[in-house]
Amino acid sequence: MEKDQRIRKYDKQVKIYENTGKNQKFNELRKKIIKNAYGKVLEVGVGAGANFPYYNKKNVEITAVDFSSEMIKSAKRAASTYQLKVEFIQNDVDKLLMEQNSYDCIVSTLSLCSYPEPIATLNKFNGWCRKDGSILLMEHGLSSNQFLSFAKKMIDPLHTKIAGCHCNRNIKKLIDESYLQVDHSERYWSDIVNLIWAKPNKQVFT
Ligand SMILES: C[S@@+](CC[C@H](N)C(=O)[O-])C[C@H]1O[C@@H](n2cnc3c(N)ncnc32)[C@H](O)[C@@H]1O
Repeated sequence: MEKDQRIRKYDKQVKIYENTGKNQKFNELRKKIIKNAYGKVLEVGVGAGANFPYYNKKNVEITAVDFSSEMIKSAKRAASTYQLKVEFIQNDVDKLLMEQNSYDCIVSTLSLCSYPEPIATLNKFNGWCRKDGSILLMEHGLSSNQFLSFAKKMIDPLHTKIAGCHCNRNIKKLIDESYLQVDHSERYWSDIVNLIWAKPNKQVFT
């Protein structure tokens, strides 16, 4: 699907992601991962700003990126609600020209499903994150339940057409094939949702 088409799809889904931000089960997981963010934080695919309530306001300086203008508008409202100072960038994550080693934390929640080349995007996070920094992820994908995974693989073409993102990604495999080094991971809901605490591997740039 062309990028403009994907942007239009996300522009139309703002209400859905504002409601996802009210889902208590998701919010428990958001809280668990986001409370670890500190310092200069880059949140990619920020959506409607559903993670904003869970940042420790005193410890973070957030830059948030999204290519959907409607999502950015909604996230700006959320930032104001939670009195969080955020710099917003409306751009394609894959087109960002960030300085290497410039963020303490990179945050991505429910966004890896959207990128056309997810391993390349993860490797960009690896470059942007400082040596001692963290890459904090909450991503959805295939299940350890074979029936569910089969169903997800079957419906993926339709899912992508409707939602603009994939539901058949093997998150663990993608991370394993990227430069990131996993410190800790947890899986929920038949292992569909993955929480991942990772660090960058700077050896790849030497
Ligand atoms: C599934 S939503 C998740 C939103 C939010 N992170 C959350 O947890 O609710 C994915 C978000 O990533 C954005 N997105 C997808 N691909 C993108 C890209 N290549 N560059 C920038 N933003 C992108 C979409 O516009 C959308 O807001």
